[in-house]
Amino acid sequence: MTTNLKKCLVIGGSGYVGYEVCRTLAANGAAVGFTYYQNRERAAALSAEFSDCRGYPLELGNIPEIHRVVSRIITDLDGVDALIHCAGSRGGTTDFVNQAQYMLDQFTGLDAATWDDEFNVNTKSVFAVCQTVVKQMQGEGPFNLVLLGSLNAAKPVPAPVAYAASKGALKSLVEVLSKTLGERHICVNLVAPGILEQGASCQVHDDLKKEYLKHCALGRLGTAEDIARFMSWLALENTYMTGQTILLDGGL
Ligand SMILES: NC(=O)c1ccc[n+]([C@@H]2O[C@H](COP(=O)([O-])OP(=O)(O)OC[C@H]3O[C@@H](n4cnc5c(N)ncnc54)[C@H](OP(=O)(O)O)[C@@H]3O)[C@@H](O)[C@H]2O)c1
Repeated sequence: MTTNLKKCLVIGGSGYVGYEVCRTLAANGAAVGFTYYQNRERAAALSAEFSDCRGYPLELGNIPEIHRVVSRIITDLDGVDALIHCAGSRGGTTDFVNQAQYMLDQFTGLDAATWDDEFNVNTKSVFAVCQTVVKQMQGEGPFNLVLLGSLNAAKPVPAPVAYAASKGALKSLVEVLSKTLGERHICVNLVAPGILEQGASCQVHDDLKKEYLKHCALGRLGTAEDIARFMSWLALENTYMTGQTILLDGGL
């Protein structure tokens, strides 16, 4: 992979996927400004490993703070070529043993506050970050907005309802933004992983993971490296792919 000293903003650099995205970008010579929420240690470890990787605390439920912190990061980077949004919340587990009953119960029992929390982090924050970033993407580009969805954005699989709906909304957002921003040389894509070894998948029931592996062509769960390599390629190299949802599920 080659870069021309790209400036990258990573939202959620302290997460399982986001951490590896920051490492891959920095290892390829990019300057990286990333956000974290509660995991200060992981953020510090990242900055200690790469001097060109700087962390900023940000809670994604607060829209004015998003605009303020994202603007600050872009000022510190002296511009931005790519946004990689890796933060997300996965409210609720998936009970595979009593799946049908679980799905019904978790839908009928879903409260509006949980719905709002999921959408605030997984969807609304994406809109707010993109809005601020796009205003700063001036010039010939190419620029890239790379979002992190989920298998749930592409295929109906058992999952917490609000989580699946909030990730599904990103598919439409990517499609409409690709049409809106194409003239500005901004490509917008959504990477949709299947079940990964760690991170948010700690809330996926072991029986569901076993069932997943039975149908997965590559016969293994994904890793943060699998996802980070592709997201970093989109951020640093992509010039013509836009409006796409790309499934990285090992061939389900
Ligand atoms: N792992 C998987 O198997 C998998 C599969 C498909 C899709 N995904 C999706 O990919 C995304 C990242 O997954 P992951 O495995 O890397 O998850 P993760 O390890 O749990 O990381 C989540 C990231 O989001 C940040 N975050 C969470 N809530 C936040 C909030 N309210 N405000 C600001 N930041 C917040 C976390 O910050 P702190 O840690 O600093 O608090 C962390 O950086 C999620 O949307 C997930 O659903 C994951």
